[in-house]
Amino acid sequence: MTRRLLVTSALPYANGPIHLGHLVEYIQTDIWARFQRLRGNRCIYICADDTHGTAIMIRARLERTSELDIIAQMAAAHGRDFADFGIAFDHYGSTHSEHNRAVCNEIWAALKAEGAVERRNVEQLYDPQAQTFLADRFVIGECPKCGSPNQYGDSCDKCGATYSPTDLKNPKSTLSGAVPELRSAEHLFINVEKQHDFLDAWTQSGEHLEPSIANYLKGYFLGQPLRDWDISRPAPYFGFEIPDEPGQFFYVWFDAPIGYIGSTREWCQITGEDFDSWWRSSETEVHHFIGKDITYFHTLFWPAMLRAAKFSLPSKVHIHGFLTVEGEKMSKSKGTFVMARTYLDHLDPAYLRYYYASKLGSRPEDLDLNLDEFEKKVNSDLVGKVVNLASRTARFLQGSSLSEVYPNDGGLFAEGANRKDEIGAAYENCDLARAMRLVMALADRANEYVDRLAPWTIKKDPTRASELQDVCSVALNLFRQIVVYLTPVLPRLAKQCEALLSVPICGLNEVDAPLLGVKVGAFEHMLTRVDPKKVVAMIEASREGEGAVTSPEANQDDDSALKAEPIAATCSIDDFTKIDMRVARIVNAEAIPEAKKLLKLTLSLGGESRRTVFAGIKSAYEPAALIGRLVVVVANLAPRQMKFGLSEGMIVCASGGDTDGIFAVAPDTGATPGMRLR
Ligand code: 2FM
Ligand code: ZN
Repeated sequence: MTRRLLVTSALPYANGPIHLGHLVEYIQTDIWARFQRLRGNRCIYICADDTHGTAIMIRARLERTSELDIIAQMAAAHGRDFADFGIAFDHYGSTHSEHNRAVCNEIWAALKAEGAVERRNVEQLYDPQAQTFLADRFVIGECPKCGSPNQYGDSCDKCGATYSPTDLKNPKSTLSGAVPELRSAEHLFINVEKQHDFLDAWTQSGEHLEPSIANYLKGYFLGQPLRDWDISRPAPYFGFEIPDEPGQFFYVWFDAPIGYIGSTREWCQITGEDFDSWWRSSETEVHHFIGKDITYFHTLFWPAMLRAAKFSLPSKVHIHGFLTVEGEKMSKSKGTFVMARTYLDHLDPAYLRYYYASKLGSRPEDLDLNLDEFEKKVNSDLVGKVVNLASRTARFLQGSSLSEVYPNDGGLFAEGANRKDEIGAAYENCDLARAMRLVMALADRANEYVDRLAPWTIKKDPTRASELQDVCSVALNLFRQIVVYLTPVLPRLAKQCEALLSVPICGLNEVDAPLLGVKVGAFEHMLTRVDPKKVVAMIEASREGEGAVTSPEANQDDDSALKAEPIAATCSIDDFTKIDMRVARIVNAEAIPEAKKLLKLTLSLGGESRRTVFAGIKSAYEPAALIGRLVVVVANLAPRQMKFGLSEGMIVCASGGDTDGIFAVAPDTGATPGMRLR
């Protein structure tokens, strides 16, 4: 029976670029959705940018721009990254849409109608200068336990203590440096405890969650009364104003999951689909894919909200672990915090799709990207086993056709077909690693066949043409059968296989019957081996500190890991005058081909002498366009030996983050090289 499935990935924050950690989930979900379509099910994949919250609001202020500009830019950047990784959404919306607002209001009305909304005063730190309440991560001060300076408002990096921001000694707002005040404001809460019995039954039913997740929820939350959830934030806040509550906004985590529905609604409007048959129908299964850090929102609050407003509950919440690189948390200084775009600048997305698939099981375990293993696995499996089957045999049949009758292959094709249920079940259970192992075992057997029959030897004897055709027909059919199984993971390879044999891959059942008599086209190159030099170059390009410009941590949700770039600690005028900043003219600018970020600049500070400065501005400027321009240089910075030469200073640039551009600071017209900034 054909199933109807609505599949989602967690909505990425609109205030940071996509990185390899995010891609675990988008690749996993995309593979699963493609598998469902290959199987003949109706499956739509819905996502959106998660746009609201304090982080974006603060960033817009710091950059003197609007939230709308930031979210538009980020939506475009996210869209490019996802498209280039082959992530095929049916719709990619935004939580900042009228569709989403309408659904938020509907769910809110339903919660109010069932008496789930309560109001209470909450005391919170307030920045009188920035005129905003401060989320925990916007306050720094001394740890109340160990006294370490510059600790955030929720926990201490040094001693690990967790506390409330009001406990910090000498607190300061990271937005303005002002001393925050304690102010009281009314907040709106959802009484989740009212739905305790329902949530207990739903999470523990064994149907919707992996057992370890159900146990975790039971152990940590459902064994006691559930706490009320604070879903409002007082103005100023970038989000949706709560109906009939002037000056109160929905907290970002209230409207973010609703974005799944809002985005579907927008898609329905565009396509003419019937909305209720996707979100209010027992005929449609809803599958969410998320990371383990946001389990709580998706398995307690979210079902409670959906139930109140009579939307479908998730059939399954598929939860994955975190990505580590080389066994450790991704690190900017080690170059392992790799942005999607940096990866794409160096490596083929097919490699990562396959590597992640080969590592992802159905349990929420962390996944390690080991670069050596990445190279070996891709080279040995994809190039050495899969593509090799076609590259070693297709050329012998180019321009002619596959045998009209399927030759005796010792049962290999039939065995591949028999694996369909097992491989299908592995995909269905999100055990992609098992699916990949089963497919690679088929590839091993197919390669043994080719090695044994050695078509290149048969080719030498013109009297054995028919035998050659048979052996290559078997090899190409086994190749195609494997590619059909890999279509969800490697859609481009599937297209290449279609082009080679001029027959489209329309469904999983094509593994059942070999192709007979079809024309064999020219073998076009399908996939190159991983070049280890490119892996190194990607890591180098991701390593911070290559040039003068570094980027702040991408901001996260305001309740969790948010790190707005704080205003630096106060410095005295004496400190400031230690820095000798001069106007300089760029007399020459050259790209360094091996460096991702650096340009080599030759500067004149007046007079005859010249200085060389390596600046991390390659992504923002064509070298030729810089020649002749005035810039500002830190002239007394200690010279620094870099990989490409000695850098004798640093040019002053403005930058918000990796994707926001880099802007060289220039003096007004009339300034001349050598003038000092004071
Ligand atoms: O954790 C995050 O990155 C959130 N932006 C995920 C939101 S998922 C859903 F609730 F929208
Ligand atoms: Zn401490």
